[in-house]
Amino acid sequence: MTRIYDEDLDGEFATQAVHAGQRPEPLAGAIMTPVYLTSTYVQDALGEHKGYEYARGKNPTREALERNVAALEGGRHGFAFASGVGCVDSIMKLFKSGDHVICGENVYGGTFRLFDRILQHMGLSFTYVDTRDPERINDAVTARTVAILVETPTNPLMRLTDLAAAGDIARHAGALLVVDNTFATPYFQQPFMYGADIVWHSTTKYLNGHSDMIGGIAVVRDDDLAARLQFIQNAAGAVPGPFDSWLALRGTKTLHLRMDAHDRNGRQVAAWLAERMGEEHVIYPGLRSHPQHELACRQMTGMGGMISVEMGTKERAAQVLGRVRVFSLAESLGGVESLISHPASMTHASVPPERRAQLGITEGMIRLSCGVEDVGDLLNDLEHAFEGM
Ligand SMILES: Cc1ncc(COP(=O)(O)O)c(C=O)c1O
Repeated sequence: MTRIYDEDLDGEFATQAVHAGQRPEPLAGAIMTPVYLTSTYVQDALGEHKGYEYARGKNPTREALERNVAALEGGRHGFAFASGVGCVDSIMKLFKSGDHVICGENVYGGTFRLFDRILQHMGLSFTYVDTRDPERINDAVTARTVAILVETPTNPLMRLTDLAAAGDIARHAGALLVVDNTFATPYFQQPFMYGADIVWHSTTKYLNGHSDMIGGIAVVRDDDLAARLQFIQNAAGAVPGPFDSWLALRGTKTLHLRMDAHDRNGRQVAAWLAERMGEEHVIYPGLRSHPQHELACRQMTGMGGMISVEMGTKERAAQVLGRVRVFSLAESLGGVESLISHPASMTHASVPPERRAQLGITEGMIRLSCGVEDVGDLLNDLEHAFEGM
């Protein structure tokens, strides 16, 4: 089982980001973890091996990534997957037909699609609630509730869940609190401090940070839960390849530097947008006008680079999306380059239109992922794109 090296927990975040999970390679002392491109491992004799038998079960490059992110999250065990949705799909395999899961009503569209179009047909039941209000989570608990799943801040509405309150409810219900920490990253938010049992990510986003791979990772503290997840990781087999693991690991080395830059740019871009469009149209937890700004300051140490803006109509949204030059019109987020998107037709197209409307993911909404470019250039780009608005 991929457990962290305990001594990695001694360092501060930046030291862990660079070093945790990695040791000089034993053959030549290479400081960088090699990409172990192998499917199997030679055994010295029948039943005698070095702890590695077949690469679906274990791969040293993947293990280095798993240990690194587990240390950053303040967890004990990491499990990397071939994508973020592959990761949450494997987490859901902890449960069985008849089990009940409470899920935040605004989660990434692909997470909702997995639950609504696949897993509910396999006997799991889901109740979607507005997890901004802990009472609603509590009211949804039944005798069959096995998990409470939240994304905070959410994609794209930037809604927050009070993790401490959700953690209390989960504990009393005997359910697991499962937190998608993709937007905040462990640099800005540490869900285990508030009672999370499983913290997971799309590593495709900020952890990798360079938009050059797809991946997911789950981190846990509890040894029994880790043993169950390890079984699923091997038995269901949604594992990442070694090169993707290496790319993600290369990304986490600079996570703290990048997140500071995303946060700086995010705050300035949000302030510019609020000035231009009126703060009621700009959704960013770092703005005082965000209804959960106080909670954001309490449970997050930074606000990051994700901002949503209500443009009013699809035409106005299309104008901005069509005029940007530094921001690129594309799905995804969390890379060093700035991206802009239209959630209703892109990341959340798999959410039925009436559900999107009810949540407030309108045709006029755009979502910005502020990269780490020069903020003056980002603001000039927006100035040009918002001309006449
Ligand atoms: C918050 C969040 N969680 C999970 C995912 C799914 O991750 P992946 O695309 O790596 O499968 C995404 C993808 O956009 C996301 O934004």
